Amino acid sequence: MAIHLGAISNQQPFVFEELERRGFVVHKVFQGKTWQDWARDLAPHAHEIRGLLSGGMTGLPKGLIDALPKLEICAINGVGLETTDLPAAKARGIVVTTTPVLFDDVADLAIALAMAACRRIAEADRYVRAGKWLQGRMPLGRSFWGKRYGILGLGRIGQALARRLEGFGGTISYCDPQPKSGVPWKPVASAVELAASSDILFLCAAGAPGGGVIVGREVLEALGPQGVFVNIARGWLVDEPALVELLASGGLGAAGLDVFAHEPNVPERLVQLDNVVLTPHIASSTQECMRRMGECLIANLTSWFTEGRAVTPVAM
Ligand code: 8YV
Repeated sequence: MAIHLGAISNQQPFVFEELERRGFVVHKVFQGKTWQDWARDLAPHAHEIRGLLSGGMTGLPKGLIDALPKLEICAINGVGLETTDLPAAKARGIVVTTTPVLFDDVADLAIALAMAACRRIAEADRYVRAGKWLQGRMPLGRSFWGKRYGILGLGRIGQALARRLEGFGGTISYCDPQPKSGVPWKPVASAVELAASSDILFLCAAGAPGGGVIVGREVLEALGPQGVFVNIARGWLVDEPALVELLASGGLGAAGLDVFAHEPNVPERLVQLDNVVLTPHIASSTQECMRRMGECLIANLTSWFTEGRAVTPVAM
């Protein structure tokens, strides 16, 4: 008997091809935007769907758990869990898996954004294309190497980033609510304190459900007019209006942002600013990383339905 899966998040084509080759039937409903859309579109198969393919931002909402009475496993292509109702999944005995194979690519993008913001690379590209070089050299950027780097959230991405930063000859401090033992980097008690003692502040924290803003105005002000802020975590962890205002007024030096509070919408004022580098949530979007993530997701579903155990389950 074929095993039916629902896909509420689009995947690389090879993921669907491979799952279908292995005999799964995949119902693709990722055109929808809310759990109500997905529940409605999956309703004709609600009593046969045993697995779900989701994404880092779509997760597993409670409403969908209730709408799919036969659900056994939700395989998330990503590591974000803030839209997954883990207690509700646990109560129903639903296994949730993520793809913990993206940390190095995300850390790479954090470095790229920090460097691009410091060295004004996107602005320089626009400068050349607009023919402005013919009128003279562009204004100076900032050095990236040898700075005081601050990492807010020293999880697996934060640690991959710190290891990379070790090559740049500066100092590395971090702030994390979970005590970290055995790491060589300096712990700092609060986000404001970390920002005040950093030239470049990286937000790498997980977006815990209902956790609210981690980088408020006071953190950005502490980073200051020469400071550079990089976000590869979640846009809603930052006071975005304050971020835009401080970047526009010179209260904050520059920023490199891959994530935004209301994706895919980016504040119009931010788009107008030259001291910010913007990317559309692409930290894990490399061919290699997407291949690894897709393979991890396939392995989880296959292992669950053949051996009764997932490969990379979330601890609940
Ligand atoms: C995902 C992400 O890869 O893993 C996450 O939580 O934010 C992303 O990098 C993307 O949402 C695709 O599911």
